[in-house]
Amino acid sequence: MTVANWPVAELHVHIEGTLETELLVVLARRNDVALPSYDPDALRELYRFTDLQSFLDIYYANLAVLRTEADFYDLGMAYLTRASAAGVRRAEIFFDPQTHLANGIPLDVVFGGLTRALADARATLGISADLILCFLRHLGGAAALQTLDAAVPFLDQFIGVGLDSAEVGFPPSLFTEVFARAKALGLHRVAHAGEEGGPDYVHEALDLLGVERVDHGIRAIEDPGLVEILRERQVPLTVCPLSNVCLRATPTLAEHALPAMLAAGLLVTINSDDPAYFGGYIDDNLSALQREFGLDNQQLATLARNSFRASFLPEAEKRRHIADVDEHLEGLLRLTSGA
Ligand code: ADE
Ligand code: ZN
Repeated sequence: MTVANWPVAELHVHIEGTLETELLVVLARRNDVALPSYDPDALRELYRFTDLQSFLDIYYANLAVLRTEADFYDLGMAYLTRASAAGVRRAEIFFDPQTHLANGIPLDVVFGGLTRALADARATLGISADLILCFLRHLGGAAALQTLDAAVPFLDQFIGVGLDSAEVGFPPSLFTEVFARAKALGLHRVAHAGEEGGPDYVHEALDLLGVERVDHGIRAIEDPGLVEILRERQVPLTVCPLSNVCLRATPTLAEHALPAMLAAGLLVTINSDDPAYFGGYIDDNLSALQREFGLDNQQLATLARNSFRASFLPEAEKRRHIADVDEHLEGLLRLTSGA
């Protein structure tokens, strides 16, 4: 059975991580940027990661091919088209402006291309999407503040801020000032925590940054007190199972924390993170979980409902999407009962 048609929200996807090797080659040729190979399959063969940093090294290097507004548009449209086919009705999409600024690309080029892709995808595919600006933790708190200041003229083009890149050694406590400023600007706040870093990073993200969602958060399961806080407050955790396997945050999918997280009553959502690098989009992640853990339709419906509950959509829109999930579930149950 396919899970491709569940209506879902994707809340943890880096637009830069959706750069498929086919588009990478097109953009490298378009902009005269050197690659180790111009064969998309050979490039994909290089994607053998041992941890988060081994992935980030290749991911950042590849981003040198993004030069013009048209490049960012093509990247955004390619993801939204693929996501829409996977059942995504709402996407809250991370982007890393500091990487592009370091490559000499001004913010208006990045925003211009991505915002136009989001508008066109809404018009042609009916998918709702917004941007979340991420700070690179390895560049520190002062650089994050500078980036937020530079992004203020574009405040109408993103809905929140996030925190990504190398986790261990760059705790949330380094970013309290920039997150306070983001809050004062009326922006949503999320942060990667508990991917490679321990439960203490999740505590800091909640207590010092005031995040509304935790990205990954899988290592929270090691701390029963933290699990109780997350359950009680129903803090959403945007889990990315295929990413966790590829970056060895979990030894195998069979050993993934997801079943324990669900059993603990946590508000878990399923996401693709960097689908061009980790072997699949949101539907591939759901299919892998279904194969590994034998998830039934009720459990898949819970994950789909959670994704809309955890989104930053207005309540009325959340309810409309959740009604679509319920309708999809009823259709499947009718099919399997032969009615
Ligand atoms: N940037 C892109 N993908 C990431 C991940 N999984 N963790 C931290 N930073 C990232
Ligand atoms: Zn991520």
